[in-house]
Amino acid sequence: MSAKQWAGIMEGDESYAGSRSFFRFQQKVQEITGYEHIIPTHQGRAAENILCTLMGGVGKTFVSNTFFDTTRGNIEFTGAEALDFLVPEGKIPGLIAPFKGNMDVEALENYFIQHGTSHIPMCILTITNNSGGGQPVSMENIRATSEICKKYGIPFFLDACRFAENAFFIKKREAGYEDRSMLSIVQEMFSYADGCTMSAKKDALVNIGGFLALKDESLAQSAKNLLIMTEGFPTYGGLAGRDLEAMAQGLDEVLEESYLTYRLRSIEYMGERLQKSGVPMLLPTGGHALYLDAKAFMAHIPVHQFPGIALVNALYLVGGIRGVEIGSLMFGKYDENGHHIAPPMELVRLAIPRRVYTQSHIDYVCEVIEEVYQKRHSYTGYEISYEAPLLRHFTAHLKSITP
Ligand SMILES: Cc1ncc(COP(=O)(O)O)c(C=O)c1O
Repeated sequence: MSAKQWAGIMEGDESYAGSRSFFRFQQKVQEITGYEHIIPTHQGRAAENILCTLMGGVGKTFVSNTFFDTTRGNIEFTGAEALDFLVPEGKIPGLIAPFKGNMDVEALENYFIQHGTSHIPMCILTITNNSGGGQPVSMENIRATSEICKKYGIPFFLDACRFAENAFFIKKREAGYEDRSMLSIVQEMFSYADGCTMSAKKDALVNIGGFLALKDESLAQSAKNLLIMTEGFPTYGGLAGRDLEAMAQGLDEVLEESYLTYRLRSIEYMGERLQKSGVPMLLPTGGHALYLDAKAFMAHIPVHQFPGIALVNALYLVGGIRGVEIGSLMFGKYDENGHHIAPPMELVRLAIPRRVYTQSHIDYVCEVIEEVYQKRHSYTGYEISYEAPLLRHFTAHLKSITP
């Protein structure tokens, strides 16, 4: 966090109700999103949990470009299903395209036509698309998704964790936005939706926090009632006044173009170097992370033996670098015969903490990846020895398969 954010931590108003810090936070989120009802939560998944508890249930289907794992988990926990409609180019790691996080609007509408919409409580567009490589969604696509949802009467939400990174990609890549201010781009993005969930640990630049922001008053009322049971009173929602101050300040700073330039360029720099060494990765590089293409990297390990886990473990053992598998462990399913169904991609995400690393840290990470790539054939696959029924990748135990 910045000096001003830490200063906010010292100045937080800890009144139980009516805290000045809450009003500062509320006003900032209202300014950015244009939504009236702002509900703080202790992090993003708590906002998702409230929304999914209210809107989910057995027989319901939520739709998205790609659900993040906790969103999917919160949906499935209610007995509902979660379906992704990512554009085809988003599933080809090496293909260069400007907006690989886009919703496949045509496929989405076809699904509505074929299956009806009475069982669909909500569409959630993840910007940027974390599980799909930190890839942005264009303004045109946000607008088109919003229009289809309106046409079929389906509430349209943003998973807005990386709204500023997404907006900066729009400014850099989408015609007509190059001279617009960051604030006006962000406001336009939010204007197409009915509400959003937010993990403030991302584009509010804080260590803990989140929120749910809504247009609809009666949904907001129900959400606040649930919040009181799970998170706390609506003016602090599981946080302290100081956290609300830091979030308000962070939401200001995240729209600074110098910060966003540094942010996107750090990842791009890492990608340029690794591409020269032939390391397979998802291209173009994303907003917050570099995603290695584990299926190509560990091509000798079949997907049901978790090539992404083999790569994650190798990076940790060789260089102490902690990444995360986004592939068969995170999103794999079983068919009725217990056989593995793999997701479209096997990725390893190396998310770069904001305002932490220097260029030499990034160079070190690249050296470790290059070393692992050179000895990639020496690594073996894994099998699961313990898994939880939902979000198994957080706590699963795996053992290596010795040849
Ligand atoms: C796209 C997206 N949505 C939701 C979440 C969940 O947020 P939190 O970790 O604050 O619960 C994350 C966290 O990584 C995320 O990247």
